[in-house]
Amino acid sequence: MPNAQQHNLNLCSQGTSLRMLFTGYLVVVGMGYMMALMQILFTHGMADGEFGLSVDDIVYSYYGQRSGSVLESKLNGSMQVMAPEGDRLKIIQWVKKGADDAIFQSDIRPIIDQRCVMCHSPASGMPVPDFTVDKNFFERAEVDTGASFSSLTRVSHIHLFGIAFIFMFVGLIFSLAAGVPKKLKAFVIIMPYLFLIIDIASWWLTKLNPAFAWLTIIGGGMMALSFGFMWIVSMYEMWIMPRLHPDDRDALLDE
Ligand code: HEC
Repeated sequence: MPNAQQHNLNLCSQGTSLRMLFTGYLVVVGMGYMMALMQILFTHGMADGEFGLSVDDIVYSYYGQRSGSVLESKLNGSMQVMAPEGDRLKIIQWVKKGADDAIFQSDIRPIIDQRCVMCHSPASGMPVPDFTVDKNFFERAEVDTGASFSSLTRVSHIHLFGIAFIFMFVGLIFSLAAGVPKKLKAFVIIMPYLFLIIDIASWWLTKLNPAFAWLTIIGGGMMALSFGFMWIVSMYEMWIMPRLHPDDRDALLDE
């Protein structure tokens, strides 16, 4: 074919439509990532009763607080403002003295009905345990052993499938970036998978031993770092680089 225009496989030389497709995808998964970080702050971030994610939060979430119950830690944390000091201490005392059934009916049930069920009942429509049922309250007065194995299995498989999918496409787009040294590029592409496995393994390990909580932070942090790097480099090569100079390297051949 004479006059065939040379077309190289790199982000810089793609036509507008493919760049639009890639950009739309990257923008939407970028927003998804932000939402995921906010979700972490609101759920695990509040576990120790203080805003912001810390190693303590991860220990509380996965290992639990084995010196006490969920009820006590909530009454000292996010539920502290829900009852006046006297009522709050009465519930905590009741838990500490062994969650006696008779005392529950005489002293604790009236407090729950007055202070808690406006939210903790199906009528409120809030996704919180129903305290009109005694059993649900007693369960939370037992020693807190953190995330259950069944919830870990559920959250693990969703993350493994879902995140692998996201990084398949982010990595595929980034693999068309020609300006990154070969070794660095290969590492950044495999990094999220490696740290996803470490992150998820760390939840299970932390459930067994709180010393592993820092692994969760490293796993999640490195995953976010590789995501940010691929995102920025891909956007740069699609939209800024073409204005500066043409690119005749073939990214898939590691040129
Ligand atoms: C204004 C609404 C509201 C009121 C009133 C309220 N709660 Fe909550 N409660 C929540 C929300 C929302 C959550 C979930 C977020 C969290 O864990 O902080 C929650 C979570 C909890 C949990 C953790 C449940 C679990 O298994 O994750 C406990 C225990 C709890 N509340 C106890 C109480 C007690 C005891 C009272 C009454 C003294 C009370 N709450 C009053 C809204 C309320």
